[in-house]
Order: sequence, then structure tokens, then C-alpha cells
Amino acid sequence: MPFFKSFPFGALCLLGCSFALAESDANLESRQNVLEGWESPSYYPTPLGGWVPEWEEAYAKAHAVVSNMTLAEKVNLTTGTGFFMGPCVGQTGSAERFGIPRLCLQDGPLGVRNTDHATAFPAGITVGATFDKQLMYDRGVAMGEEFRGKGVNIHLGPSVGPLGRKPRGGRNWEGFGMDPSLQGIGSAQTIKGVQSTGVIATVKHLVGNEQELFRMIFPIQPVGFLSKPYSSNIDDRTMHELYLWPFADSVRAGVGSVMMAYNDVNSSSSSQNSELINHLLKDELGFQGFVMTDWFAHQGGVSSALAGLDMAMPGDGAVPLLGTSHWAGELSRSVLNGTVPVERINDMATRIVATWFKLGQDKDFPAPNFSSHTDAETGLIYPGAVVSPIGVVNQYVDVQDDHNTVARAIARDAITLLKNEDNVLPLDSNASLKVFGEDAGPDPQGLNSCADKGCNRGVLTMGWGSGSAKLPYLITPEEGIKAKAPKTEFHITDKFPRDIEADPEDIAIVFINADSGENFITVEGNPGDRTVSDLYAWHHGDELVMDAAEKFSTVVVVVHTVGPIIMEKWIDHPSVKSVLVAHLPGQEAGMIADILFGEHSPSGHLPYTIPRSESDYPESVSLINDPFKKIQDTFTEGLFIDYRHFQRTNTTPRYPFGHGLSYTTFSLTSPRLTPVTPLTEYPPPRPAKGTPPTYPDTIPSASEVSWPEGLTRIWRYLYPYLDNPTSIKPGDDYPYPEGYSTTPKPPPRAGGAEGGNPALWDVAFTVEVTVTNTGAVSGRAVAQLYVELPPQVVPDTPKLQLRQFEKTKVLQPGESEVVRMDITRRDLSVWDVEVQDWKVREVGKGAKLWVGGSVEDLRVVCEIGGECGDA
Ligand code: NOJ
Repeated sequence: MPFFKSFPFGALCLLGCSFALAESDANLESRQNVLEGWESPSYYPTPLGGWVPEWEEAYAKAHAVVSNMTLAEKVNLTTGTGFFMGPCVGQTGSAERFGIPRLCLQDGPLGVRNTDHATAFPAGITVGATFDKQLMYDRGVAMGEEFRGKGVNIHLGPSVGPLGRKPRGGRNWEGFGMDPSLQGIGSAQTIKGVQSTGVIATVKHLVGNEQELFRMIFPIQPVGFLSKPYSSNIDDRTMHELYLWPFADSVRAGVGSVMMAYNDVNSSSSSQNSELINHLLKDELGFQGFVMTDWFAHQGGVSSALAGLDMAMPGDGAVPLLGTSHWAGELSRSVLNGTVPVERINDMATRIVATWFKLGQDKDFPAPNFSSHTDAETGLIYPGAVVSPIGVVNQYVDVQDDHNTVARAIARDAITLLKNEDNVLPLDSNASLKVFGEDAGPDPQGLNSCADKGCNRGVLTMGWGSGSAKLPYLITPEEGIKAKAPKTEFHITDKFPRDIEADPEDIAIVFINADSGENFITVEGNPGDRTVSDLYAWHHGDELVMDAAEKFSTVVVVVHTVGPIIMEKWIDHPSVKSVLVAHLPGQEAGMIADILFGEHSPSGHLPYTIPRSESDYPESVSLINDPFKKIQDTFTEGLFIDYRHFQRTNTTPRYPFGHGLSYTTFSLTSPRLTPVTPLTEYPPPRPAKGTPPTYPDTIPSASEVSWPEGLTRIWRYLYPYLDNPTSIKPGDDYPYPEGYSTTPKPPPRAGGAEGGNPALWDVAFTVEVTVTNTGAVSGRAVAQLYVELPPQVVPDTPKLQLRQFEKTKVLQPGESEVVRMDITRRDLSVWDVEVQDWKVREVGKGAKLWVGGSVEDLRVVCEIGGECGDA
């Protein structure tokens, strides 16, 4: 077992680099190569937290505590104690006098990363494919219980950024699909589930982290050149209607923390971007929790504090393990010398403590009982220090409970049937079956044989990187199939056996996959994003299918994939009768057998479009690869990503967004539209802000950050203390950013509560549709509601936008269910960039609400101000 289970981030250089970044208040460099027209405006000061009624009690408790804290205690909560300086992937300092422990932050979005006896749930993309809100919530609850059981205070998920703009993007699979409403609903349900257990959820990464390559400061060796993160240049309307949309849902769901992205947004680094944090997140969306950096994304001390950042993770600056930080003692110094306003440090600490109270972590919350860094029972308490006390670091607490029930339900209900000619599926378990492909079997080198799933061997259960988790066990497709059809012949290899006999009644089942992940690991030449694999199946998967299709007259293809793959080489081959996408199923990959043999009808739907060719996408969503200059990634396609683009350009996809067949058929009838809340052009005026708690603004005594007597210092551990703090003089030469001000801005009219003006969530209409199982077997249907705004009144708007969905229970043949979907004011609005508010044109009149089984399979429609009927 290696000493470190995994080593995140450009480890190659980070340990041996010849440069060191200045860990000081100065920005690394001020904005470089700003693209004209794409500059992020200034927005200061940071709005204080604690002005919505839902958080009043938590803020009152936090105020009582923070009022009595020393500066050192406050700073301690804001800064991680350093990389590998505790059991978790990140941890804050503590405020022991008030019972606040070091808070443990741990990945990731599909389960507790890098530990034992924890469930490896299906990935976000799989959850999205279920289109099942209840399962989204149930997985959140189950994950919350597991994080809590391991003693994790802050869960680093869900992920909704990337949104999936770039089909090759490495981490799209951590989120729920390439659509803002699907992401928003998935995220909100997950957050509510996780936080119902008292664990703080973290929605990430705000915003525009749409590709992995060059996402962060990266040393190019051996030239010693420092590449800067790319800038995602996003216009105001696209920001609101696409990329910020799921974050708004997350804030409305009460999320406790937000992680910023690595990349710049409009040429300002996300973690010190005052427009993003102070304006959009804290003022407009009314976020009351705390904002953290992504790991090593912290680039400026004072600048990030002023821009609204509340927590630096893991505490180190851009280079780990130097024992230096932009914050820790340097934040203490900046408060003492008057550069960072006292009000700001109080707000940072209050936001963190209020969130801790809000989630009830002051009562019986367990301490971490695992180590993210080693499997051994005993080990270094502070592995990053090397010289460290030794103690018990792993207690191997089993937190799985019966969570495999929800994991199995998701793995099964996500499976998406793309094609089923001659009703080849479901299979008879007595049929003559031959299974091909390594993707049906286990990792030949053993379960969890590569750190953070940084390899593609055996069945693909998840992508790689911080969004992965160890498999506590794995039910492979091979095992699942064997249990139901013991006579099946298995060829767990990606090389098609040339000498195989094929009888006419034989059915070949071919398993293929496509992987991607996070940039700190390169797998088979792919540095996170799918660079060398293109959008094709890995390991010559297309050849395997073709070879099988040449030999067998009936072929079923099963695909485990992180996102869209191009199937053109074989999809129209006459032998390829059926195709199932099983997404990323986690530990329960064997559930494919339930679908293959018809125990359940498939009910998953594509959370993205499958194109015929990569050139079907807009050029602007290609990966950008240029290490030698600052990359400007301008989102020129605006709102037109995925199906929105295909519809605009009249491009026929291979399979449209939302597509998914069943073994039965469904009718959608009797659409009914009920007006609920009358609309106005703009929402009614926002509620006034409540009064946040305040504190005296006197600079604390320097002695509050003196080294405590008798403290045994740990080498490289990050402390809030300073040598000789009484010698600190007022720092009156700090170059405050242009536009810096300490006078609060008038509250934005689009704000007013968590998520924005609460009237945005007024239900404007409900749509009811009767779904009837018209086939011969039982199954579940998904009703997807797409809004079409009248094109003449809303230019540059995608023709159709998914805004709601509902999944039925299991319907028996002949059985019906009426599904009801609420359409809110926001769902019918566009962002008015002039007025800076959400506008409903002509009070929604003429807008059409389509309901169907995919974006291309619309069955019924209701027109606002008109009739409902068949599409
Ligand atoms: C970097 C990743 O981008 C983020 O998602 C993760 O939570 C942190 N590392 C911590 O591992």
C-alpha cells in the first residue's frame, strides 16, 4: 500500500518544481490578456449573511458565539490546515472553546471517497437518466447517512458545473445531464436528501468549469512556464438561463456551501471574482452559507476575502505542502493592519458557524473515523507533516446499511433502451447467449486496483478523479447475467475470438465503454477530457461490436459511458438489434441483468443528445488546448448547447435528448392546463432584506493572534498565529481593486430570498397528463415537459427547453396515472439584461407547453391562453 492513497493535482511537478508562488497578499498577476467585452465587473462589498427568515435562528446562535471569538479562532475556521493535515481531503481549524471541531470536508458526489465500507452509488449522470425525483432524493439521504457515519461535516457534492457544454469534457458524468433544469432538479433533490441527515452539502463548481485541460495554474515542465487557467467568457443572459440556473435551484434548496471553480470567469479568477460571489451568489441568489475555493485555486489573500470568499481549501496556496497560505496567519495580518475589514472576517466566520448550527452539527455529530490517505489502522495523524504523532486513523466503520437498495434501483431505472428491433429484448434466460467484452467483467487486477479509478479495466462503474469512490464490492454484469442465465458463455475480452462458432439462434451481447475523469490523472492518454479517445468507445469497442455483428445475426450492445458516444460505425448494422446505455452504475453493475431478462422494463432516458458526428456540435464547444497562452474560452453558442443546438440547426441526432424506449408502450392523453398564479411582466417587488447580525468594527487586539504558550507546532500545518503581531502597522498602501467600496449596494431587484426573488418560484400553471400503459408488460414512463416561448417575442431563445418531468410508478398493462407538473414563473421567463430581472413576455401568452417522451417525441401540448390537445 503506498503511503498516500492518491495524490491529487499535478503531483508530477508540485513536489519538485523549481518555482514557488508568492504566498502573499499580492495577486499572482493582475488580469492578463483580458478579451475586450469580456471583463468581469467589480461588485463590493460582500453582502453580510443572515438576512432571510429561514436562517435567522442559526445566525442568532452563530452571532452569540462569534461575538466571543478571538481573531485567531475566526481565522482558524476560514482556512484549511493544509494538504494532508488531517484525515479528510480538507479540514478547517477549530474553535474548541465553543465546541466547534475541525470541520472535515470530503469528496465526492457519488459516495465517500477513498474509504472502506461505504457505498459506491451510481454517478450523477446515471441518476439524471432515471428522471426520478424520489430516487434523486433517496440517494441524497443515503449518501448523507454515510458521510455522517464517517464523521464528514461537509460533503463535496453535488456537481452541476460542468453543465456538460463540451461533450468531451472530463467531469460531465459527475452531474445530472446536459440541461440546466435536469441539473437543477437533480441537485436540489440531492441537497435536500444529504442535508436532511445534518451533513452540509456543497454545490460545485461555480462556474464555467467545462473542460479539464488548463483548468488551473499549471507548471509546464521542463520549461518552467506557468500556464494560467482558461477564462470562461459567459454573457449575462447565458449565465442566468444556463450556467447559474442549477446553482439557483441549489441555493433555494438551502445548500450550505458552494465551491468555486478553478477557471477564470470573464477574466477574473472564480475564487476572487466579486461579480460571481458578491453579486450573483450572495446578493442576487441570496446565498446564506459559505463559499470555498476548489483545492489550490486560491490565488490572492485580501482580494479573495473582499470578493466574498469565506473558506480557503485545503489552506495552501497554489502549491501544496510549502507550509504557507494566502490566508491563515496572513489573513490575521490583513485584519490587524486594517486591509481586510473587520466586518468581512466576522461575516466569514459567522457564515461558517451559522451553517454548522443550521445543520444541527452542534448536537452529536461524530468525529472523522477514517483516513482518506491510508488503509492502515494506525498511521500519521498529519501525513503532510511527515513528522507527526501516530494514532488510530481508520476505524473501518461500516456505513452501508441497506443503501444498496437505492443504489440498485437507480442503476436499474437509469438503463436506457435506445433501440430494440424485432423486440429482441427482453431475452429468454434459456436462450443461447454469448457475452463479449472486458466491460462485462471485473478488473483483472483486482477491485479498486487503481487510485481514484484512474484506469479503465473491467466494467466501467464510474469515471476517474475526486468524483470517484472505492467499490466496497462489485456485482459485475457477468455475475448478474450468470445468476439469471447460467448457461451463458462468457468471453471477457475486448479481442473478438476469431474461432468462435455462431449458430443462427445465438445472441451476442457485447459490452463496451467510454471513460473520462479529472485532470490530475491521465488514463490511456486522456488527461481527464476525452482528448485521444474522441467520442468513440474505448478499447476498440466499435470493432468488437462490428466483429460480433459480422458473425452473429442478433447482437445486443450494452454501453457504460460517461456521456455521448458516436455509434455510427455499427448502429445501422442489420445484426445490431438492441442497444442499452447503462451509464455509470457504481457497485451494482449487475442490475443490467434485470433489464436484459425483462424482470423490469427499461425506464431510463438520455440526459444528453447522441450525435451522428462530432461535427454536429457547434465548433465553440470543442476542447481548447494551448498551454502557451491564456486560453479564452468564449461561450459564443450562448444558450444553444446540446439539443438546443441540434434543434436550431435542424440537425437530426442519432438519438435525441430524453430518448428511452420500454418493453411496453405508453399513451399520453387528456392534457389539462390550470392557471395558478397570474403572471405579470416582471415579478412583484422582492421582499426587503432582513437585518443581519452585526458586530463592533474595532480592530481586535494583536495579542489575539499571538502564538499560544506551550503549543507544539506541527511542521507545515497552517495556523492563524503570527510572530510578533503587535509590531503590525496599518497597511494603508493596499491597492484595492477598481470599484472597491464599503458601502452596501442597493439589493438587486432579482433577489429577495434563497435562490432569488421567491416569486420566481410561484407556480404559474400546472399541467396534468394521463399516462396509460398501452402495452403487454408493466413499466414506468417519464413525462418530460418542454417550454416553447413564442419565437417572435423572445429572440435567440432555444425552441424547446426542458423545464419539468415526472416519472410514473410501475404501471401494469392498461393502468393509468395522472402526472402533474408545475410550471413556475421562472420557467416562462427570460433574463432581461437591461432591467436585470426575469421577464415574462406578454404574460406567457402563446407559450406552448409540450409533454412527451423525448425532445423529439412530443405527444400533447397546451398553449397558454389557448387550447390543449395532441401534438
Ligand atoms: C478538486 C476537484 O475539482 C473538486 O471537485 C474536489 O472536491 C476537490 N479537488 C477536493 O478533492
